[in-house]
Amino acid sequence: MIETVDLKKTYIARNKEVYALNGINLQVDKGDFVSIMGPSGSGKSTLLSILGCLDNACQGSYYLNGIDVKRLKDRKRAQLRNSVIGFVFQSFFLMPRLSAAENIELPMLYYGLTPKERHKRAQWLLECVSLSDRANHLPSELSGGQCQRIAIARALANDPELILADEPTGNLDQEASSVVLDMFSVLNEQGKTVVLITHDGTIAKKAKRSLVIRNGIINNA
Ligand SMILES: Nc1ncnc2c1ncn2[C@@H]1O[C@H](COP(=O)(O)OP(=O)(O)O)[C@@H](O)[C@H]1O
Ligand SMILES: [Mg+2]
Repeated sequence: MIETVDLKKTYIARNKEVYALNGINLQVDKGDFVSIMGPSGSGKSTLLSILGCLDNACQGSYYLNGIDVKRLKDRKRAQLRNSVIGFVFQSFFLMPRLSAAENIELPMLYYGLTPKERHKRAQWLLECVSLSDRANHLPSELSGGQCQRIAIARALANDPELILADEPTGNLDQEASSVVLDMFSVLNEQGKTVVLITHDGTIAKKAKRSLVIRNGIINNA
């Protein structure tokens, strides 16, 4: 599903080059659950944004389902991203003025579902994350753990094959973390491919396979 060949990413900040990725060779098969662990600044978020087709590498290739992502035009790349990938971030990124259900419906807007179909799917996804009773709450009226469960439901809106999560439990207490992590395991059991980024070794162990990234290079854990 994912194959990267010698990915490199350099940022230029204040006239200095920052080498964020230094040759990433990563293969993730369909149905896998991979954790990538590494200290702050090791390139985790940079890698995830490239895997998520939000950014391009400077050098090397990234194939998603066999498609060379850097050769796609912006619109095609966005289409691929919306249909194949669901994202979950540390700070949730929910829309503050939309209710839980409306946040979940948002990605469906690009898919030509009728309002009724969107509503029905959002209600079903709310059930999946055990938050049916919070459908009309705003994010500010939810706990961190509940916000992340809504964000997971939103990530599932278009039934993606691949879930990319960047430190999804970073802002959660232990109990909420464990609920959220169990959700990723269940999603993987249901056939979703999961790539989970973390700096926490105990979280990394939940995955089928753990990798470590340091200074923009990946090694086996
Ligand atoms: N937009 C940017 N401009 C300049 N440097 C950046 C930018 N984004 C990240 N970096 C640098 O790239 C390196 C990797 O960052 P990042 O991928 O965010 O690491 P992590 O997620 O593992 O903490 C860091 O040294 C960081 O300072
Ligand atoms: Mg990061």
